[in-house]
Amino acid sequence: MKLSKKKPIIGLDIGTHTIKMAEVVSTKSGYRLTGIGMARIPPDALVEGQIQNPEVLVRTIKSLFHNLKFKVRNIATSISGYSVVVKKINVPRMTEDALAENIRFEAEQYIPFDINEVNIDFQILEQPKEESMADAAFDRMEVILVAAKNDIINEYVELIDKAKLTPSVVDVDAFALENVYDTNYDYDEEAAVALVDIGASQININIVQGGLSIFTRDAPTGGNQITLEVAREFGIDYEEAEQMKLGYNLDKNKLIALEDIFIAAATAWSREIKQALDFVSGSLRGGKISRLVLSGGSSLIPGFAQYMARESGIPVEHIDPFAKLSFDSRKIDAEYLKAIAPQAAIVIGLALRRVGDK
Ligand SMILES: Nc1ncnc2c1ncn2[C@@H]1O[C@H](COP(=O)(O)OP(=O)(O)OP(=O)(O)O)[C@@H](O)[C@H]1O
Ligand SMILES: [Mg+2]
Repeated sequence: MKLSKKKPIIGLDIGTHTIKMAEVVSTKSGYRLTGIGMARIPPDALVEGQIQNPEVLVRTIKSLFHNLKFKVRNIATSISGYSVVVKKINVPRMTEDALAENIRFEAEQYIPFDINEVNIDFQILEQPKEESMADAAFDRMEVILVAAKNDIINEYVELIDKAKLTPSVVDVDAFALENVYDTNYDYDEEAAVALVDIGASQININIVQGGLSIFTRDAPTGGNQITLEVAREFGIDYEEAEQMKLGYNLDKNKLIALEDIFIAAATAWSREIKQALDFVSGSLRGGKISRLVLSGGSSLIPGFAQYMARESGIPVEHIDPFAKLSFDSRKIDAEYLKAIAPQAAIVIGLALRRVGDK
């Protein structure tokens, strides 16, 4: 485990259903969780990554920060969805510095937005050995391109400013997920692993191998789909539907109808996920994806993990974002951590960043 001496940071995951905040500090004996909390927000405050009601978000962030008694004000947050593009691209072989100069030119054709309105980052992938490559291919190299619209980054930065905090890192959900996975699970150079976060309004798929993302995709669906369907089916409001979905106030008939809704969602989600797995498996060095690691609140719908395992033929497990984190059990309840573990994956990935990280 690599420990960073850089300045600490508070992770802030602004989900469409729940805002999460956590602090992880580096100590001599490893990472230590010093605080974590989450708070619900109304379903229309943040829609498809677009901030609709900044006041509610600012208020929620402020009260979480206050309640958790954090001292550090530096924040690492993340964005995802339509305004972020993560792509593996192929460019002429050049040094990192040269690519930094040329990346806008190289990236332009891959980005569905005006190149002048995006923030760009990249990582050069380790190239296969020379002798195994055709001469023509040797002139080129693979690069992971990350582009995010400036206006969306600015919106998040402004939000954090308004909460009287300091925006230090703006990450991408998929990379935060990869970070929490890398920290908590033993490293296997060869195995490809699918990290899948199912939240309220999006499914985030990130396939990693050798410590790098080789594929990411966001699909605009999630637990909200179930809540809305439950509300429609039973003629109740969103809040009641949310309660019912979590198993409150159920009689036998309702349970059967609810199960049908779960099954419909699970089928659609697993199809979406499997499509991504199949797409990547085709081009995978070393063959197949060795496991699927689920996170996000909606990955908890009853039977989903088992269903996904059957459909994909790959072992499926829920992530434990706290596996290698110590904490003071007088201050943080172990049962609470267990209950929120899947929802906490991204915020812990963010809390593990340090000021100065990209
Ligand atoms: N035990 C559970 N069973 C089924 N669904 C659950 C359970 N716990 C939470 N959920 C659902 O998970 C969703 C919230 O999960 P999460 O906090 O990961 O979403 P989010 O990060 O706010 O959303 P997004 O990432 O899509 O913006 C809600 O739709 C909630 O109803
Ligand atoms: Mg989320």
